Amino acid sequence: KEIKLWGGRFEESVTDAVEKFSESISFDKVLYKQDIMGSRAHATMLAHQGLMTSSDRDSILLGLDEIEKSIEAGKFVWRTDREDVHMNIEAALTDLIGEPAKKLHTARSRNDQVVTDLRLWCRDAIDNILACIKSLQLERDAGRLIDCRSRLNFCPLGACALAGTGLPIDRFMTSDALGFTAPLRNSIDAVSDRDFVLEILSANSITAVHLSRLGEEWVLWASEEFGFLTPSDAVSTGSSIMPQKKNPDPMELVRGKSARVVGDLMTLLILCKGLPQAYNRDLQEDKEPLFDSVNTIRGMLEVSTEFAQNITFNQERIQKALPSGFLDATTLADYLVNKGVPFRTAHDIVGRSVALGLSANKQLQELTLVELKSINSVFEEDVYEFLGVQNSVKKFCSYGSTGSQCVAEQLNFWVSKLEIK
Ligand code: ARG
Repeated sequence: KEIKLWGGRFEESVTDAVEKFSESISFDKVLYKQDIMGSRAHATMLAHQGLMTSSDRDSILLGLDEIEKSIEAGKFVWRTDREDVHMNIEAALTDLIGEPAKKLHTARSRNDQVVTDLRLWCRDAIDNILACIKSLQLERDAGRLIDCRSRLNFCPLGACALAGTGLPIDRFMTSDALGFTAPLRNSIDAVSDRDFVLEILSANSITAVHLSRLGEEWVLWASEEFGFLTPSDAVSTGSSIMPQKKNPDPMELVRGKSARVVGDLMTLLILCKGLPQAYNRDLQEDKEPLFDSVNTIRGMLEVSTEFAQNITFNQERIQKALPSGFLDATTLADYLVNKGVPFRTAHDIVGRSVALGLSANKQLQELTLVELKSINSVFEEDVYEFLGVQNSVKKFCSYGSTGSQCVAEQLNFWVSKLEIK
């Protein structure tokens, strides 16, 4: 067995069970790009500060290039006995270039590496999710991620496990090189903090719940009973036993997958709940929920967007459903308010008009003026301008209301804000 990078004080190697249990390479290898970026910045800074020669730096940079290429070509061998992405890359670099590689870990620990990699990964993940949100457009969901992005963009590198270092490193230089706003101010906080993961998982959970609500509504409207919308075949699936079925399964799955995204947040909240300061190995468990949440929300957004683009609204079915349910009752109350009737009294008069309609099997607009006057003499011929759904919706004109004019204004606002052509 190869001696571990941390093997100096150990007399025995770990058992197979411990090795298998503790590894993270099976899932953290996706961080290879960020890990290599971090190492490039770190080596460049160490050379600038006189902590390695420029020729050591150059062979490190060349070695890292080669490793990156071999990973991307699918040729790199990821080793479980090298535990995680950080030690796999460092050990491979040592295999490749020898002595200079041993200087790379000067004034650096895996604790700062892992959280630096994770912040860089999250930055890209947020940009990707934002693009997906824009195709479907959920404004507040984007805002939460943008907030989170600005708070996470600080650099932990140089925390050196937890305490900082006596070596003359320049944390501002690495922070700049990696596009961070600044180095984190406190070395213990730098390796402890996973707020940014919690924030992304929270923002994703809220987005997931929105998509789930949308999914619920679309599934309901697509049902035989409602029939308000028909998804195209491209976004529907069939039944293995009922040949007639065409199901809006993608949206049922969007509703279902929201459970995972919320679960990922719960996992991380509970993971962090009992942790003391600084890095604890428990934190290795932050990655799978993070990756799962980001991948799942991206899929949910993509499929919801495609679904939205593949829906036909069945105007006729919708029109047919509108007259039932006395949707114009509130407009009728407003009519009475306009005539000077106090709202509570108007509410009661309209309630009795609805009761009359129910017993006569008539909609409100089908009640005669005589029938209406039998309830209250304030009704006049002009009442019919307020009755029926078509008339009723025209009356809504308060800011942000559902009247056609107001809806058109709202649409115009978003079309220009989102630069939709
Ligand atoms: N694989 C670890 C992780 O993903 C790296 C940190 C190792 N630090 C430690 N103290 N064992 O979190």
